[in-house]
Amino acid sequence: MKKIFKWIGIVLGSLIGLILIVALILFLIGNARLNKTYDFPPSDLTIPTDAASIAHGEHIAKTLCEGCHSPDLSGINNWFEGGPLGTIDSANLTSGEGGVGQTFTDEDFVRAIRHGIDPKGKPTFMPAVVSTAHLSDEDLAAVIAYVKSVPPVDHITYGKQFTPLAKILFATGMLPALPAEVVSHETHVTAPAPGVTVEYGSYLVDTHDCHICHGQNMNGGKFPDPTKKIITPNLTRSGDLSTWSEADFVNTLKTGVTPHGHQLTDDMPWKDFRYMTDDELKAIWAYLNSLPPMDQYTP
Ligand code: HEC
Ligand code: HEC
Repeated sequence: MKKIFKWIGIVLGSLIGLILIVALILFLIGNARLNKTYDFPPSDLTIPTDAASIAHGEHIAKTLCEGCHSPDLSGINNWFEGGPLGTIDSANLTSGEGGVGQTFTDEDFVRAIRHGIDPKGKPTFMPAVVSTAHLSDEDLAAVIAYVKSVPPVDHITYGKQFTPLAKILFATGMLPALPAEVVSHETHVTAPAPGVTVEYGSYLVDTHDCHICHGQNMNGGKFPDPTKKIITPNLTRSGDLSTWSEADFVNTLKTGVTPHGHQLTDDMPWKDFRYMTDDELKAIWAYLNSLPPMDQYTP
């Protein structure tokens, strides 16, 4: 009898040991990915200082940055609350106490917004980089010009605070990849001329996050925050939008209420997109209408 218990003990002990070793290896892999150093050729953008460029940058920041960095750009503590995974604060972008604007060079801003890396070259977890990486040189320079022009706000933020469990899950691919691992890292980006065109609409959809939630083909997808089990609606012509007019679409994004009277939840960032101009929204509508009709995405 005693012998059997001894053997069970040895087997169980080895199993637990094995699990701990696998967890440790995964932790080290996850940690190495988070601490990898990246280097890209500088874009050498000239950041404008004229009022028109700063106003254009403010328009982009309203629709693209304020939702996550707050209207005064001072950042949000616990922007992501992942329970056992940890937390992520969005950064204070101003030049006040705790703000990146105190120390960032123009190129540091480019690295953060286009490449998803911090001044030391380490990857950040700003999910929006997959869309802000598409900003043209001109738009990126304008938004940086605006960020540099806002009044300083004192507010300390702590960036990403991942637990060992998060690092283990990250190594297994159960958490989204780091933006720096997936974006194309262009040194220079050009945009189509602004106007109510399919091409400009496509640019706005790329730069304004629509794909992150509505999927690569815009026929719906999984919500990016893994703690929320949401499937987003199909925006191709075979979805609900097939019955909408251009005016319905513009009105929905401005008011948050669909033609059927459905109030969109805050999971759809219409409160940021309502600042888009009518022409920008019409361009997005033209782009959506140019897409092949597809069935609603299901997991
Ligand atoms: C979906 C949310 C989201 C959007 C949209 C967003 N950010 Fe961020 N941003 C974050 C988070 C979260 C961090 C902190 C990331 C980290 O510390 O790993 C961050 C960090 C930053 C940083 C600091 C990077 C560093 O090295 O510490 C800069 C600069 C920045 N964002 C600028 C912008 C600008 C400009 C825009 C608009 C063009 C923007 N962000 C849009 C969430 C967002
Ligand atoms: C952070 C995720 C997210 C992003 C980014 C996002 N959406 Fe949405 N969207 C949603 C969710 C979730 C819903 C469903 C909301 C509801 O039913 O209350 C939705 C609904 C919509 C609807 C209503 C569809 C219908 O059938 O009622 C339209 C139109 C829409 N989104 C357009 C866009 C456009 C255009 C963009 C980019 C400029 C965009 N969305 C970006 C999450 C997102």
